[in-house]
Amino acid sequence: MLLKRWWHKRRRASVPADSSGPRITFFGGKGGVGKTTCAAAYALRLANNGQRTLLVSTDPAHSLGDLLQVALGSKVQRISEGLDALELDPEKALKRYLDEVKTNLRQLASPELRQAAEHQAELAGLSPGATEAALFDEIVRLILDSEDYEQLVFDTAPTGHTLHLLALPEIMGAWTEGLLARGQKSEVEWMQRAPEADDRSRRAGAILQRRRERFAAARERLLDPARTRFVPILNPDALSREETARMLITLGERGIPLDTLVINRVLPDSADGQFLARRRQTEAGHLAAIDRDFAHLKRLRIPLAESEIRGLSALQSLARQLAL
Ligand SMILES: Nc1ncnc2c1ncn2[C@@H]1O[C@H](COP(=O)(O)OP(=O)(O)OP(=O)(O)O)[C@@H](O)[C@H]1O
Ligand SMILES: [Mg+2]
Repeated sequence: MLLKRWWHKRRRASVPADSSGPRITFFGGKGGVGKTTCAAAYALRLANNGQRTLLVSTDPAHSLGDLLQVALGSKVQRISEGLDALELDPEKALKRYLDEVKTNLRQLASPELRQAAEHQAELAGLSPGATEAALFDEIVRLILDSEDYEQLVFDTAPTGHTLHLLALPEIMGAWTEGLLARGQKSEVEWMQRAPEADDRSRRAGAILQRRRERFAAARERLLDPARTRFVPILNPDALSREETARMLITLGERGIPLDTLVINRVLPDSADGQFLARRRQTEAGHLAAIDRDFAHLKRLRIPLAESEIRGLSALQSLARQLAL
């Protein structure tokens, strides 16, 4: 009975109830289209509206700190009233994950197997995809454990598409088993190969079950349109249109909610001169194609700013325009 009560309490602590937790917005798109700038401006907009907001960069090539003109790291930092930010550090994420695996192994593997199991965990850390997978772990943590915030805004990496990987059940499965590497012994196996396997495998089972539940809860939140949305950004040019079309197919296949497309860096009417007039002509063709190809989405045009966007006050004007 006591054990049952403890287990329920633990479950409540590790997997937050459905209705709780922040709203989540991901900004994604081709390299250089304005993901970081728009994510930061939108987060600022939310904070201006009185919402406690956490802005997160998942891009290993961090430029959020440069944009905000503060030194950001993997610890939450106050940017302005109601706005905090952090940059996820892939190396630190990997170390944290491996440390967790090792702690589990220390508790669960038999003394004879412990060293070999730890070695295996080290190898897993070197395998392709390990860093990205460790980043998933951090994102899941943020999605589930950011109860202090009403809004989470993610600036994503250009090609990683972390979000749709997260929404893939098979990736979740692989990660749940503790490894992405091909053909390597899984953490589970190591745990279960121990002598006195009964008690250990029960504990290993409980750890894995908890992880499975957390991934399932994160996935549910990600796929819930009432809570999460992905905002694709593009520029009015051919390459970014093509990449966006491909990205939208993938996101659609994963069932990731999206309703608005941001068309960033549109030449403003005030831009004059012959050179810009010619550019505007080319651009008009792309804008028409975007309206046609992405007619099922709302489309928000953001003009190319006259001067460089850097620092909070420069972001304010963009924040006012990002009515998403
Ligand atoms: N509306 C805009 N007006 C003027 N400049 C802009 C606008 N949006 C973005 N920029 C500028 O374009 C450049 C690229 O923007 P940003 O870094 O936000 O793109 P990104 O998509 O995050 O790039 P990456 O793929 O490298 O992460 C920056 O110099 C930024 O200041
Ligand atoms: Mg960026």
